[in-house]
Amino acid sequence: MRRVYMDANATTPVFPEVVEAMRPYWTERFGNPSSIHLDGQQARTALDRARETMAEFFNCREAEVVFNSGGTEGDNTAIFGLLRPGDHFITTAIEHSAVLQAAERVAQRGVEVTLVAPQPSGLIRPDDLRAALRPNTRLISVMLANNETGVLQAVEEMAEIARAAGAFFHIDAVQGAGKVPIDVRRFGCHLLSISAHKVHGPKGVGAMFVRRGTPLESLLVGGSHERRQRAGTENLPGIVGLAKAVQLAMISLEDGTIDRLTELRDRLETGLLRIPGTGLNGCEDGRPVSRVANTTNIWFDQLEGEALVIALDLKGIAVSGGSACHSGATEPSHVLMAMGLDKTRARASLRFSLLKTATEADVDYVLQAVPEVVERLRELSPVAAGTLG
Ligand SMILES: Cc1ncc(COP(=O)(O)O)c(C=O)c1O
Repeated sequence: MRRVYMDANATTPVFPEVVEAMRPYWTERFGNPSSIHLDGQQARTALDRARETMAEFFNCREAEVVFNSGGTEGDNTAIFGLLRPGDHFITTAIEHSAVLQAAERVAQRGVEVTLVAPQPSGLIRPDDLRAALRPNTRLISVMLANNETGVLQAVEEMAEIARAAGAFFHIDAVQGAGKVPIDVRRFGCHLLSISAHKVHGPKGVGAMFVRRGTPLESLLVGGSHERRQRAGTENLPGIVGLAKAVQLAMISLEDGTIDRLTELRDRLETGLLRIPGTGLNGCEDGRPVSRVANTTNIWFDQLEGEALVIALDLKGIAVSGGSACHSGATEPSHVLMAMGLDKTRARASLRFSLLKTATEADVDYVLQAVPEVVERLRELSPVAAGTLG
């Protein structure tokens, strides 16, 4: 059966060029970058090259790049590494759990935490961040793009608010990287986190921009790797893969891929919204707000998102209800709830997130399958029958 993967925000396949770039670093170039012999030097050279590429991707100095295990570690490091009891931390109600759970942890340890609510569109108003400031605000953390809706936040304006208040600013750019240009100088942030597996790189590796002079305490201590900011022998194959993946991502931001993706997503979205009893999450005055090119999040009245995910999977289509990072959880999405959807509508929402390799034929297949599945499930639906609240 045909399979169409429309869950790119959960993870992406590693591009063949990335696998090829990584391959020697498991076998003939297996050296430890800390060793002084030739094998070590070769590994060190590869690490240095990967750092150059990351610095280009972030638009920062090479010394401001810290390789790590991915988005969760970057988010955790920003929060645990900067906040101490008595500090105030501002973040938003729509962040990934890697931020929200870390916020809960520091709150238990005496940090004051403010969660700023989004507008119904999913946008965070910079003025709401400003209003949350306190004299002891030390860190503000806001995501660049939301994993569920794709909505892009006004991070430059927010960074300026942080700067004026003397607070540090962290951006979770896990879902924005590869979809919009990353430029830490333009953004004006102190910290920024990305993850390789969302940009066709391997899982379990990522990188963080740490602006020079930011007094960030490392999570891991041990050896003097990563300028003492992240101890542990470097995952060199992973790091080389991440660098190759962001190199390809930089090309894709300029070669028309994003425009093509936007067209495909829009055609998919228009087609899905022709199904009666549907609507788009992430709108203002009936129009979608600024968002990444590959994502659309749609509610289907009278349906359970989970049931729809399973029924579509049986048709060969992979999509996600709520956030895939919490698969197994049946709670409605905290993002959609924070945007003001009621539980039933939040549960009835699906995220379609296209890979950069998505085709017209993929969209046609989904547009053919979804209306049939929706109609069939609605006939059976306890929500439609009024037996489920
Ligand atoms: C916005 C966001 N932040 C952080 C993460 C966590 O990244 P990782 O899977 O690399 O730990 C994810 C993963 O889905 C995400 O979407």
